[in-house]
Amino acid sequence: MLPMRPIAASLKNARLSRKRGTFPDHQLVRVDGDTVRFNQPIVINEVCLNCHGPSVGLKPGLKTLLDELYPDDKFRDFQVGDLRGAFRAEIKDDVPE
Ligand code: HEC
Repeated sequence: MLPMRPIAASLKNARLSRKRGTFPDHQLVRVDGDTVRFNQPIVINEVCLNCHGPSVGLKPGLKTLLDELYPDDKFRDFQVGDLRGAFRAEIKDDVPE
């Protein structure tokens, strides 16, 4: 399990990059001699709005289903471009060349 601090720092950096208009698709960072870290931001796009967009814009059948299955969830009202998190993986880069 990775500690939260580096993940939070990663997200903060991603937010800053986005403000500067340089939001990366993904990022590879060498952690040490044989480990590489892969970061990929999770960004809301048009498809996501089918469920995560404004409640008024949701298809009625789908809205009913989501309300039934996730009554307490706060996953709506996002917009295209909103940052929702990040995928992160550390990969051993120890294959001999
Ligand atoms: C078919 C409906 C649907 C679509 C389309 C969809 N999601 Fe979701 N998503 C959900 C539901 C329902 C949950 C809540 C699941 C739970 O609480 O267990 C969720 C949860 C999430 C979460 C974690 C909970 C949170 O904080 O909101 C993230 C992040 C997320 N979705 C991102 C996305 C992204 C990015 C896309 C588009 C690439 C997307 N989703 C498309 C239905 C959808």
